[in-house]
Amino acid sequence: MRRLLFLFSALTFVGCTTAQPLAVDLSPTAANGLKLAQQSGCASCHGSDFGGGTGPTWQGIVGQTVAFKGGESGVVDREYLIESIKYPDKNKRVGYSVVMPYNNLTDAEVSDIVDYIEALSN
Ligand code: HEC
Repeated sequence: MRRLLFLFSALTFVGCTTAQPLAVDLSPTAANGLKLAQQSGCASCHGSDFGGGTGPTWQGIVGQTVAFKGGESGVVDREYLIESIKYPDKNKRVGYSVVMPYNNLTDAEVSDIVDYIEALSN
């Protein structure tokens, strides 16, 4: 009986962690990117598991075609992701009204976050 109870609490614990970032295999740089993204407040808009919120999802985004407010569209690749993080007022997407704030991330930090975002599309 005691063993059953233990199993139950272990299952409950697993159930409580579902809102965490996806358990994907991360390279060291991508793992650091995840940490940086969590520390930099990105999840408040992009979602606790980066599945989207007031900002777009990061999951499966690489290779997607996205529509911009000016009427153009573009395909999400590494360059697009880097530009979007370094210059949040570029690439204004249709369907999003909040404004992404500027950040103080270095180029190396942006690169690690982009490694993480790319891992979410693998
Ligand atoms: C206040 C909300 C908010 C916060 C905080 C925020 N973002 Fe965004 N982000 C957005 C919105 C909204 C867009 C969509 C582009 C647009 O219309 O400005 C976006 C777009 C992006 C994109 C491009 C993805 C796409 O689909 O176009 C990336 C990459 C990104 N953000 C990364 C980050 C990172 C990294 C951080 C943390 C340092 C961050 N964002 C913090 C709201 C936010």
